[in-house]
Amino acid sequence: MIGERLTEAMNEQIKHELESYYLYLSVAAYFHSKSLDGMAHWMKAQAHEEMIHAMKFFDHIIDRGGEVRLQDLKQHKTQWSSTLEAWKDAYQHEQFISDKINGLISIAREDRDYASEPLLAWFADEQIEEEATASKITDEIEMVGEDKSGLLFLDRELAQRPFPAGSPLDPAAYGQAE
Ligand code: FEO
Repeated sequence: MIGERLTEAMNEQIKHELESYYLYLSVAAYFHSKSLDGMAHWMKAQAHEEMIHAMKFFDHIIDRGGEVRLQDLKQHKTQWSSTLEAWKDAYQHEQFISDKINGLISIAREDRDYASEPLLAWFADEQIEEEATASKITDEIEMVGEDKSGLLFLDRELAQRPFPAGSPLDPAAYGQAE
């Protein structure tokens, strides 16, 4: 059975993952408002991944005999001063999440909760990938600067990210063209 300290921290993490979901949806709405539909598409696909992350902790707590206690979510920004600022926020947010995952690993080790190791190792790997991706795209946006054709090229490229199968965030799932 999972201990109370780790249960509390994982419940907190469910909140962070759902807030990630919300953040990426909010950035997606901002990009749509700027006609950067490829970037909006990328953010929606990322939002989908964040819901999966939340559910991995949700199921782990339940499977280990703990109690899931959902918390209030923070209100996110709805406007950014530039495309670059929005991507920088996404990158910073992933760094914040990595820090939280490290905190969970520390608690699990201190409490000798070996059963949570595979899940937390998966998240540690995932965060390496998420930080690297957000950092790379942020760098690319920085490189194109004010060059609108460069931004359009990146927008088209980011539109290629596939939606996970069956995602409710895929416009095709609710009969909408993106
Ligand atoms: Fe669930 Fe993007 O971290």
